[in-house]
Formats: sequence, structure tokens, C-alpha cells
Amino acid sequence: MKRIGFLTSGGDCQSLNATMRGVAKTLYENCKDVEIYGILEGYKGLIYGNYRKMEPIDFTGILTEGGTIIGTSRQPFKKMRTPDENGLDKVEAMKSNYKKWKLDCLVILGGNGTHKTANLLREEGCNVVTLPKTIDNDIWGTDMTFGFQSAVNIATNAIDCIHTTAASHGRVFIVEVMGHKVGWLTLHAGIAGGADIILLPEIPYDIKSVVKALEKRTKEGKRFSILAVAEGAISKEEAALSKKELKAKRKNSPYPSISYQIGKEIEEYTGQEVRITVPGHTQRGGEPCPYDRVLSTRLGAAAGRLILDKKYGYMVGMCDGETVPVPLEEVAGKLKMVDPDTPMIQEAKDLGICFGD
Ligand code: F6P
Repeated sequence: MKRIGFLTSGGDCQSLNATMRGVAKTLYENCKDVEIYGILEGYKGLIYGNYRKMEPIDFTGILTEGGTIIGTSRQPFKKMRTPDENGLDKVEAMKSNYKKWKLDCLVILGGNGTHKTANLLREEGCNVVTLPKTIDNDIWGTDMTFGFQSAVNIATNAIDCIHTTAASHGRVFIVEVMGHKVGWLTLHAGIAGGADIILLPEIPYDIKSVVKALEKRTKEGKRFSILAVAEGAISKEEAALSKKELKAKRKNSPYPSISYQIGKEIEEYTGQEVRITVPGHTQRGGEPCPYDRVLSTRLGAAAGRLILDKKYGYMVGMCDGETVPVPLEEVAGKLKMVDPDTPMIQEAKDLGICFGD
């Protein structure tokens, strides 16, 4: 008998259910006696003992369903060692439930913070296998995270929709793309959507370069311009500040997000009319795209195989088209950022896309 706990943690994405389905089907198919427990709302469920016994039927018909059938929540890693408001030791509580439920393994689907806690549980003696989930694609040890390509489709569609209205009115449009502290989503959606200017956290921008690129387009007779701006974009001046100074600056900023600051500056420098679109959480919504369905199915199947082989303490990554087990201690705490020298950026620059540097 194998007893496996499933847990989805952090911000959701389109392909969580498809991934759990991949693991579950592999386990049910290859192990006569397996019980799966859905731990509800991420680490919260593990801390407070909330779970639901799952049946094979729960994993059918969910390949195309966005969100997560077992719920999720954000439980910051940095607060894991801090007792809750009732003095409960969260790490001890998680270990105790793991033991009480007699789990052979926890399957944890999540992003960077989730991986830090998963590694902590591994260090504390729990068997853990993890899967790289996030629209940000910023998890170290895998070329691709599930959710990313689905989000690229949505962000690209937002830019596509802006194109016609931008052209009609001759305005400058900014589309602000999610991605937290990294620019993968903006880079891919920006290129796919034909953005003229792409601003990423990894390449601090100079507003004068942005303005120069806009004026060049105007001189060339182009009536509109589109900027794809990462929510984590940062100016050169801001990049020179300490973390604390930047936090204070952003806190006192009159703008709801970086795009509004950039928009205001563009209006002041160029006199052009600027409009801002923030697709926000729509980028995490809806059904997974076919690419993600395949990726999730493969990663899920590989995770199932690891559990069948009793190989614990790994994240399943996708590297050069192959599923690979990556030791959790190597993944936890590392961020996969866009390399400003990557050929993709040079190619984009070669065809005239401005990165604000
Ligand atoms: O990590 C995924 C993500 O969607 C980021 O791109 C974004 O910055 C963040 O989560 C938003 O978090 P929340 O859903 O908690 O507002």
C-alpha cells in the first residue's frame, strides 16, 4: 500500500490539474494499492490537517481544467519557522500530520517559495517529490515550468488586441505583464505580440532610451507604439538604490505600478497620449494550452515513476526535451533569470526592438 499526499501551493496557474492527473494516472496504473490524499489549500492544509481522500474519478476530465481542484494558498517560507497566532509550530505540525496520515510521499506542486519549504520538509525527514509550477518560468533546474506557455498565450493575446486600437488612435500603449522579479513572460509575449519596446527587470531601463526609440518611430511615420513592460521592470536609477531605499521609493510612489510611472514620463517627454493595460490575473486563468498539457503530463508521469521507484527528494524538471530528477537542495533558493546576453535578446535588438538600455 502506498499513501501519497498531493499539495498545490502559491499562486495558481493553468496546468496544475493536468500535472496532478499525470502523477495520479501513473500511480493508479502501475501500483495496485495506492491511496491519494488531496491536502487542501497548500501548506495550510498540511499545517492544520485539512485533506480530502481522492478517488481515481477525481483525476478524470481535468486535463483541460485551469486552477487546482485541491485549492492553494500562499504560506511564505520566511514565516514557516514563526509560530502562528496561537503559538503553533508550523513545521512540527506539518511533520506530525505527515506521520499521522502515514504518507509515503508528498507530491508538491509550486514555485520558488514552495520549493524552499519542500526542501525544508525533506531536511526534516519527509519524502518529497516536487513539480515546477509557475507562469513566471523562474524555477532553477528546468528549462520550462508548466503554466508559462499558457500565460504567454494570454499576454500575447492582450498585446494583439491592443494593436488595432493603438493603430486607430495613434497612441502609445503599455501592456504590463506579470512575472514577479523576472522577465521571461514579458520577453516571450513581447516578441510574440510584436511589441516595439520590451522592458525587463534584468535590463534596467533608461527612460531617455525609451523616449528615443519612440521618437524614432514617430520620425519613421509610425503612428503608434506598444511597450511590453514587466511588472518587475526597474529604471537604471532605481537599480542603483539599495533594497531598502527602493522599497521606500516604491511605497511612496503615487503610481499603482511601474507602467503608470513609465507612462507619465513618456507623456511628459514626448507629449504623446499614453494608455495602460494590465491583464493581471487573467494571465493565470483559463485552460492550459496544448504545450502545457503535454509538459504537465510528461512531468507528472515522471514524478509518478520516481515515487514508484522510491526515489525521493527531487524536483522533476524538463531539460533539453527530457524529464530529469533534479535534487531539491540544488533547486531551493535559486532564481532562474533572463540572461541579458542571451541570443534571443540580441536577435530582438537586431530587428529593432528597444530594451531601454
Ligand atoms: O508567481 C506568479 C504570479 O502570478 C506573479 O507573476 C505575480 O507577481 C504574483 O504571482 C501575483 O501574486 P498574487 O496572486 O498573490 O497577487
